[in-house]
Amino acid sequence: MLRRLHHEQPSSFAFTPANLAWAEAQITKFPVGRQASAIIPLLFRAQEQEGWLSKPAIEYVADMLGMPYIRALEVATFYFMFQLAPVGSVAHIQICGTTSCMICGSEDLIKVCKEKIAAHPFELSADGRFSWEEVECLGACANAPMAQIGKDYYEDLSEASLAKLIDDMAAGSAPRPGSQVGRFSSEPASGLTSLADSKGEREAANASVGTALAQADVVKKIDGTEVPLRAPWQMSGQHAPIGIMGVGQRPLSAVQQAAAAKAAAEAAAAAPAPAPVAAEAVAAEAGDGDDSVDESAGVKPAGLAAPREGRADDLKLIEGIGPVLEQRLNEWGIFHFDQIAAWGAEEIAFADANVPRFKGRCSRDKWVAQAKIIVTEGLERFLERAKTNDY
Ligand code: FES
Repeated sequence: MLRRLHHEQPSSFAFTPANLAWAEAQITKFPVGRQASAIIPLLFRAQEQEGWLSKPAIEYVADMLGMPYIRALEVATFYFMFQLAPVGSVAHIQICGTTSCMICGSEDLIKVCKEKIAAHPFELSADGRFSWEEVECLGACANAPMAQIGKDYYEDLSEASLAKLIDDMAAGSAPRPGSQVGRFSSEPASGLTSLADSKGEREAANASVGTALAQADVVKKIDGTEVPLRAPWQMSGQHAPIGIMGVGQRPLSAVQQAAAAKAAAEAAAAAPAPAPVAAEAVAAEAGDGDDSVDESAGVKPAGLAAPREGRADDLKLIEGIGPVLEQRLNEWGIFHFDQIAAWGAEEIAFADANVPRFKGRCSRDKWVAQAKIIVTEGLERFLERAKTNDY
């Protein structure tokens, strides 16, 4: 399928303070230097906030993760979980049309979508609240035919049950995800043939369905009113209150807590502390991106009045420097790789304390080591070594 950015784009994007706090917590899941691994959850959160994924949102996430825009665009345009154009404000219904689902009636489901929503995929319903598309196998073939709506799967569908789902969502209710004929998972449709006496226990353990219903968030969009979410290991070793944990997360076991505490201690020793937990601090950071210059930290690198010969180097080639940070460096008079390569501990300390949003990025991403490779070994060799982060 050809997936392109929508022809109309908003002028900007920014996470709400709560979503910014959540995104920063996601980033802490990954080792230093591997923040880019958080791209899928961050893009999905941006999509949940806005309803679809715009170019400014993709670039915003890329900046947060210090990634070149093209790499973020590659991810956003590859996975069809990302909607690159506005979709229904209540729900976008993704009907699986691959073999199992087709044999079991997906064409009937598509007929329902055409009748109740719009004649063509990605076309908004008359009231703008629904849209639909046909997608490839979603991995629930044993419960065909099925559809994904928001975060949830709806399985064992029929024309009648899909039509009722759409009506229920239109009426503002949160229909039960999962099998629509009462199956727990993918056991025989005719009923259990073994472990038949454990049905009650298994039902209680159906966490994804239970959580979705308990939070009534089946088709709820992230709207910025949520309590800021933190990763469990950022919560002082305590069990995270259920109300502020991510969907599907459970309280940590004792072993998990011990491991989390150890990881947090190691992270604290190896890198600057993550952003403050307090909501006011998060809100303040979101306000101006914590862009202030702290002249007391280290020594400000010596800068040039202008790029030599009027041409600055593309500092974004250095892993960890995106357009925002490049602009900051240019404001300091830093335009060339050799300037960064010449930095000592004091200049690194200054840069670490004065880069937007993520303190310590200069050290973590080894800007100076990268710049030295460019200066001494050439750009071609640097790009080769960059494939394996060999700095
Ligand atoms: S064929 Fe539909 S989920 Fe696999």
